[in-house]
Amino acid sequence: MTEKKRIVSGMRPTGTLHLGNFHGALENWITMQDEYDCFFFVADWHALTSDYEDTGNIGAYTRQMVIDWLSTGLSPEKNTLFVQSHIKEHAELFLLLTMITPTPWLERNPTYKDQIDQLKNKDLSTFGFLGYPVLQAADIIIYKAQGVPVGIDQVPHIEITREIARRFNYLYGNVFPEPESILTKTAKILGTDRRKMSKSYHNAIYLSDPPETIMETVSKMITDPQRARKTDPGNPDICNVFAFHSLYSDQASVSTIAEECRSAKIGCVECKKIMAESLIKALAPIRDKNQYFTAHPEIVDEIIATGDKKARTVAENTLGQVREAIKL
Ligand code: TRP
Ligand code: SF4
Repeated sequence: MTEKKRIVSGMRPTGTLHLGNFHGALENWITMQDEYDCFFFVADWHALTSDYEDTGNIGAYTRQMVIDWLSTGLSPEKNTLFVQSHIKEHAELFLLLTMITPTPWLERNPTYKDQIDQLKNKDLSTFGFLGYPVLQAADIIIYKAQGVPVGIDQVPHIEITREIARRFNYLYGNVFPEPESILTKTAKILGTDRRKMSKSYHNAIYLSDPPETIMETVSKMITDPQRARKTDPGNPDICNVFAFHSLYSDQASVSTIAEECRSAKIGCVECKKIMAESLIKALAPIRDKNQYFTAHPEIVDEIIATGDKKARTVAENTLGQVREAIKL
C-alpha cells in the first residue's frame, strides 16, 4: 500500500455553518477523508486577526464548528481533527517564519488588500492581520502537508506558504515540502437573495435550522428574476431554487420540475415548497446529530483532545527539526 498524501486545512470559527460553508468546503473535506491523510483544524487564532475586539463567542463557536463537522460525516477516526490554539508549536513556528518573511510579500497579498477594503468598519492595521498568511503557512508546513484544500480566495495564501517554505529550505536546509492548493469547486448554490451565501448578508440557510425556519426562509428566496407571473415560463438554469432542487430533491422530481417550470405548469410558490421539503428531509439526520453532540459536549471535547494529541506529536517532531536546522 502506498502512503496517503497528507493534506491540511482549517476553518475560522464563525458560528454554526450554513449550506454555503458546507458545499464550499466541508463537503469537499468529507470526500477527501478516505483518500488522504487529513489534518483539519479550527483556526481560532486566525479568527482573532479580524475579531480581536469581540472574543466572547470564540470558545463556543470552536466547539460548534467541530459539532457541525461531526454531524455532517467528517470522521474523527479517519481524520485528525483539532484546534489551532491547542497546539502551541504553530505559534513558535509562526514566530520563526516571521523572521524570514519579507513584509512586501504580505503587503502585496491581494486577499489582504481586499479585506482591508471590505471590512471598513474594523481597524485591521494590526501586525497580526498583516501576518495572517505567515500563521497560515505555519499551520500548513508544520504538518509537512503536500496539499491544501481551499477555495479560490485562499490561493494567494498558499502561494505565500510555498514561498516561505522555499525560503526556509534555502536558508537552513530542506525541512519542508512545498504544498499545493487543491481547489474546491465553485459555489453550487447562492444565498436566498442570489448573492454569495454569507452570515453577514443574512441570506443563509444553516445546517441546524429547524423545519419552520427552512420553510420560511425558502419561501422568501428569489427565483428566476425574469419570471414575474405564474403564467410566464421560467428558466430553471438560472434559478437558485432549482440549484437547491438539483442538490436535494430526487432525480425524477428534478427533471419534472425543470420541465414544468419551462412550460409554466408549476408556480414558484409550489416549487419552493417541494424544495423546502426535500431540504428539511436531507438536513434532518444532520440536525439530529447536532442535537446529540450539543447535549454531550464531553464527547466532543474528548474527540478534540484525541485529535490535538495526534497533531501535537507531529508538530513537536517538526519543531525539533526546525530548531536543529536553525541551530537554536
Ligand atoms: N485562511 C483560511 C480561511 O479563511 C483558514 C485557514 C487558516 C487555513 N489556516 C489555514 C486554511 C491553513 C487552510 C490551511 O478560510
Ligand atoms: Fe425557479 Fe421553481 Fe420558479 Fe422555476 S418554478 S423559476 S425552478 S422556483
